[in-house]
Amino acid sequence: MKTEETNRWNPKAYKKHTGFVSELALPVVDLLAPQHGEKILDAGCGDGTLAVEIEKSGAKVIGVDMSSQMIEACREKGIEAYVASVTELPYHDSFDAVFSNATLHWVKDAKTAVQQIASALKNGGRFVCEFGGEGNVFAIVSAMQEVFDKHPEFGTFDNPWFFPSIREYKALLESEGFEVRYIALIPRPTPMDDIKNWLDIFTNGLTKDLTKEQRDIFVAECVEILRPILYHDSKGWSVDYVRLRVEAVVRK
Ligand code: BEZ
Repeated sequence: MKTEETNRWNPKAYKKHTGFVSELALPVVDLLAPQHGEKILDAGCGDGTLAVEIEKSGAKVIGVDMSSQMIEACREKGIEAYVASVTELPYHDSFDAVFSNATLHWVKDAKTAVQQIASALKNGGRFVCEFGGEGNVFAIVSAMQEVFDKHPEFGTFDNPWFFPSIREYKALLESEGFEVRYIALIPRPTPMDDIKNWLDIFTNGLTKDLTKEQRDIFVAECVEILRPILYHDSKGWSVDYVRLRVEAVVRK
């Protein structure tokens, strides 16, 4: 699921450069352990790749995402899906499980998201998710901050992401009635064909007020700062991902 500014993503470009996002998420699907006959909400379903994987268990998946293009791609795969925000879910006591991959770091109002997920679940329902945790893309965020600081004409750098620590997210879940069964931070350096593609795909919202020339400068300077940190002659580019993986059960 993407924020308002970044919800016009192109499913084909996203898949081409970030197909690893769903491939690396299969352990989270294992943690979800979907069962035949269960009703599962995929919050931030993207193009539906993981929803299809979950439905192989015989569970019924409903996907929601902020991007109408992603919802279209999802429906083309045969998944029931709707445009909706995780901070405004139209469901109450409806699901056996809520699943979410690579989405919740886009939702800065994390408390409302957790409240809405709790409300969408049946009593005893589980919430299984993975998203960026403390330290995620630290080198990239620091490079962006440095470039904005160097160019006051770009305005203020407003970090669009929420990368919580274990302690912070566990406390948030417990405050909304969840019992946390598993929570871990998992460093996951991930090969990327070109860091420029990552910046092109994920910084639209952040650079929406820049001119085309300013945006080109932003990307070029980020790449130069990041080259000595994230590029290796033998391995190429690697993105400094850190995942927060969670399984929690709601008590109402
Ligand atoms: C992530 O998957 O961790 C991520 C993706 C885009 C921007 C920031 C983080």
